[in-house]
Amino acid sequence: MKILFLNGVNLNMTGRREKGVYGSETLEEINAQIAQFCRERDVECEFFQSNLEGELCTKIQETDADGIVLNAGAYTHYSYALRDAIASVQTPVIEVHMSNVHARDEFRHRSVISEVCRGTVLGFGKKSYLLAAESFLL
Ligand code: DQA
Repeated sequence: MKILFLNGVNLNMTGRREKGVYGSETLEEINAQIAQFCRERDVECEFFQSNLEGELCTKIQETDADGIVLNAGAYTHYSYALRDAIASVQTPVIEVHMSNVHARDEFRHRSVISEVCRGTVLGFGKKSYLLAAESFLL
């Protein structure tokens, strides 16, 4: 089993932006904990982050992973390109958000990717990634 952890726009700023919302750990620190979680479960993992919509689409199209855990950042709310990329592959995708987007700005309440994802995990901080990964193992 291989899982791709895919992070979109601005997630590289995690630990440095809006710490009250996203915490003070960097994406690298969070990814190290995810890697440990995967090692303990004998799961292979890969990490990829990009601020570029097209790069995220290409990664979704070309991955050899069995499942994708995707935090698309703000692209979640308006990227039909990402939605189409997810719909175009067989690889199951779990949508993830660290914050509870429904308790935030109204524009964050809408996700254009939810419908083409297997499920959504949100509001659990960095644990959202682990809970989503766990779903592939049940
Ligand atoms: C986010 C929520 C999005 O609304 C926001 O644009 C992000 C991060 C989250 O992890 O809570 O960049 O996806």
